[in-house]
Amino acid sequence: MSFKKKILCIGAGYVGGPTMAVIAAQCPEYKVTVVDVNAERIQAWNGDHLPIFEAGLLEVVRQARGRNLFFSTDIPGGIREADIIFVSVNTPTKTFGHGAGMASDLQHWEKTAHQIVAHSDRAKIIVEKSTLPVRTAEAMERILQENKKGIRFDVVSNPEFLAEGTAIQDLLHPDRVLIGSRPGESGRRAAEEVAAIFAHWVPAGKIIATNLWSAELSKLVANAFLAQRVSSINSVSALCEKTGADVDEISFAVGSDHRIGPHFLKASVGFGGSCFKKDILNLVYIARSYGLEEVAGYWESVVRINEYQQERFVRTIIDEMFHTVVGKKIVLLGFAFKADTGDTRESPGIHVARKLLEERALLAVSDPQALGNARRDLAGFSGQVEFEPDPYRAAVEAQALAVITEWRAYCDLDFARMFASMRKPAFVFDGRNILDHHRLFEIGFNVFPLGKPAMTHFS
Ligand code: UDX
Ligand code: UDX
Repeated sequence: MSFKKKILCIGAGYVGGPTMAVIAAQCPEYKVTVVDVNAERIQAWNGDHLPIFEAGLLEVVRQARGRNLFFSTDIPGGIREADIIFVSVNTPTKTFGHGAGMASDLQHWEKTAHQIVAHSDRAKIIVEKSTLPVRTAEAMERILQENKKGIRFDVVSNPEFLAEGTAIQDLLHPDRVLIGSRPGESGRRAAEEVAAIFAHWVPAGKIIATNLWSAELSKLVANAFLAQRVSSINSVSALCEKTGADVDEISFAVGSDHRIGPHFLKASVGFGGSCFKKDILNLVYIARSYGLEEVAGYWESVVRINEYQQERFVRTIIDEMFHTVVGKKIVLLGFAFKADTGDTRESPGIHVARKLLEERALLAVSDPQALGNARRDLAGFSGQVEFEPDPYRAAVEAQALAVITEWRAYCDLDFARMFASMRKPAFVFDGRNILDHHRLFEIGFNVFPLGKPAMTHFS
């Protein structure tokens, strides 16, 4: 079969995989190939057990796989035949050298740019899909244009705003698709080619053209704004606990103002995920590198409040359990960084677990999707931690339940049954405020919600 266009995506991760599956399903006349250096990952994409858990993803993949969607490790072959190349390799925070702990590690990006040059023999459009520091495209262009073959590459920024757990819905019904390009005829044409892909299913008014730097920076800023809302409400949760105010009532009251809106105002044990912290630190680093210390400090505080909130949660557990958790079994209900995903990257669960294990607690970690990742995250603590998918079994002989992830199923657990099998006094620390606290108290638990008065049976 001959295809109208050939699209390649380098990087078959949480972003590249679902995004390309949706593009292939929506654009049957385009050939979409996803390549990755990780052969195991590619094999999983070609099977029935996809490498990531995402509602509706398998159906979309099945719709297009083998028809116009292909997963492969042949990166050179993929580059050669592609007209448009999306790059979605990871850009983690640097762990070494200058900017360690703050800046993005762009080594995979640079390597990919060199690979593209090496295996191209005609003009191509290169699309930045990964979240990148503003002005990365400039460096990309320099590497790409240095080629001795006289090939023209147009770099376009098309950041991805999908959230994990709702990736397919977010891709099918995006609030906006951002396409940033260089001024001039060639840049405009490249942007139009990319826009034509999304125009298959996204209304024209939602496809926004910007300059390259605005597109790159918008992604960092969007994530920073979302994270800032979470840190804002989490900072208020601490104040609520001191004053008797109820943080959920405050979220509702404040979010009812249409200028503020109700989203991302749910107090929590802290935000996690591969993006928020990384992107804010990157924003901080960039601001600092331009000498904008006040701007850097402002955004840095969003991350600091997030760390404070996680720390505060652990402190409450230890203090309320009579200042020691040595030898006490504590159940972590959930380990994923949010519900409906198995992803644990930057999950507050990691911090909470490590701190409790350092205090010599015994942990039973339960999660419907994330136990594989949890095992890796907590390697080195064997003997002190068990991984138990069944929350009822996890609760046997435990002294406390700590909600880390807002899995809907946790609301429907039979807590009376759990209470009966636990040691007394029994505690619940609800890091997501999802449980019925009054009911738990009636059952006999000592209940510690976030940003609400505690309910204890102690006189
Ligand atoms: C990644 C970035 O982390 C994020 O900043 C960006 O917004 C989107 O892309 P994600 O898809 O979640 O997010 O990352 P990950 O699941 O780690 O996937 C990246 C994939 O790229 C991995 O499968 C990795 O094997 C692959 N990769 C990495 C390559 O194929 N080549 C490389 O040189 C490096
Ligand atoms: C985020 C952005 O939403 C998305 O647009 C971007 O492309 C990638 O980063 P993601 O990290 O997948 O997506 O999940 P998100 O739903 O944004 O949640 C991030 C964290 O904030 C989670 O740990 C979540 O539990 C937490 N959160 C979110 C809260 O604690 N309270 C809230 O009210 C909302």
